[in-house]
Amino acid sequence: MKEKVLSMVNIDKRFTGVHALKGVNFDLYPGEVHALVGENGAGKSTMMKTLTGIHAMDSGEIYYQGKLFDPKSPKHALSNGIGIIHQELNMMEHLTVAQNIFIGRESTGKSGFLLDEKALNKRAADLFKRLNMDIDPKEILGNLTVGKQQMVEIAKAVSHDLKILILDEPTAALTETEIDDLFTIMKDLAGKNVGMIYISHRMDEINRITNRVTVMRDGQYIGTKDTKNVTKEEIINMMVGRVIYEDPKTQSCVGKDAEVVLKVENLNAGRMVQNINFELRKGEILGFAGLMGAGRTETARALFGADEKDSGRIFINGNEVKISSPMDAVSHGIGYLSEDRKRFGIAVNLSVTENAVMASYEDFEKGILVHEKKIDDITKEYVKKLKVKTPSVHQLLKNLSGGNQQKVVIAKWLIKDSEILIFDEPTRGIDVGAKSEIYALMNELAKEGKSIIMISSELTEILRMSDRIVVMCEGKITGELDIKDASQEAIMKFATKRD
Ligand SMILES: Nc1ncnc2c1ncn2[C@@H]1O[C@H](COP(=O)(O)OP(=O)(O)OP(=O)(O)O)[C@@H](O)[C@H]1O
Ligand SMILES: [Mg+2]
Repeated sequence: MKEKVLSMVNIDKRFTGVHALKGVNFDLYPGEVHALVGENGAGKSTMMKTLTGIHAMDSGEIYYQGKLFDPKSPKHALSNGIGIIHQELNMMEHLTVAQNIFIGRESTGKSGFLLDEKALNKRAADLFKRLNMDIDPKEILGNLTVGKQQMVEIAKAVSHDLKILILDEPTAALTETEIDDLFTIMKDLAGKNVGMIYISHRMDEINRITNRVTVMRDGQYIGTKDTKNVTKEEIINMMVGRVIYEDPKTQSCVGKDAEVVLKVENLNAGRMVQNINFELRKGEILGFAGLMGAGRTETARALFGADEKDSGRIFINGNEVKISSPMDAVSHGIGYLSEDRKRFGIAVNLSVTENAVMASYEDFEKGILVHEKKIDDITKEYVKKLKVKTPSVHQLLKNLSGGNQQKVVIAKWLIKDSEILIFDEPTRGIDVGAKSEIYALMNELAKEGKSIIMISSELTEILRMSDRIVVMCEGKITGELDIKDASQEAIMKFATKRD
């Protein structure tokens, strides 16, 4: 057996009001992929932030390459061969791809950049070629999809000479092919003896790519297993300390005669939204399935008024409405939970309450005053319902774990009480336990008569939640399935249909 490259022993860390790490252990061999899993707020990101010098630990020891190691800053960790790809993208949207990759390197000029832009682009192009990524080094980063931006961040990390690479939920925004590419890169790095720490809420990935799994719960170390000797159910049980039941829907809960609340006719918006027609009934959960890049988000954004439409008509309760901005959409009772929450969903420098009532603020105004207590009460109610882990509803959102930030965005639209809700990848980055809670809430909403469009790339989720499923491929609707006729195979057939 090789010598361990890393041993973290008894790591302890407190934030105000939160004991985030309670004596956690973690170790890593060279060339190993070691999964770190646990519910939202379990302490995974914090553990990795102590290793990379972002947070100083209160006590504990880190042994790296056989010696005691005290990471002072991310730069210090990186120059010692420990790199991290963060859960939240951490790049400069206004700079080019190549500039983002090489910013702050030794070989840069006074301005922080290599003087020779051309050489910079060439180096980035070589790097992408080696990694089999199709990205233009000269493109402004902010113009790329979240998935592509993530790929740039990955390229940036592996362009350093690393002994340890930490990947904190790297696949949340990637397409299937991008995930395959990432796993190829990881296997290649493993062959070069780089040890990798892999954080993900997607259980199937654990099996595909990791050698060992370490489970954390509530800041505590629960245990470490060889991946090949442990089942998904055992891991989930270690994570949440209980069994989670998954019961897929087998029959629609909505009658064919239920009234149509939303009708979309011949909606067109650019290449990704071509001649979209569908109806949504009262109390229905309509699943939008398809591969990433099929045009589902673009359809939702055009419908919601976030992007411009080329043509098309929208009817709500039988009346034609004009939606040219998100404000129009909200005034017609439509809520949209964006898949790209960092950009459109949350304000990290505001508190949990401020985020929670952001869409419904005026409902809490009384004259010139604002009903603070009501705001606190309703936020507390949803914090409890969605099990948001936070010491107080006045905590700033940026101090919550990634998954808990997402729960707050979901709370925002639930509090707004819209008649029509569009949930775009609602459970991305959400742990298995909280997923069940969110599913239960969605079912409850539908029972109350709210109508839901759920866009999801997880087929199991689509099959479990939808009454009816619309499938998209390359900007068009290619099929529609009643839940009783739906299966993964049937959906995939439409999702890959080309003409
Ligand atoms: N800077 C901070 N200030 C205060 N509390 C924090 C800070 N960072 C994290 N926490 C708290 O520490 C706990 C652990 O958070 P962490 O981000 O490590 O969770 P996680 O396991 O990565 O969860 P997720 O799966 O949601 O990303 C949470 O309760 C979180 O709110
Ligand atoms: Mg995290």
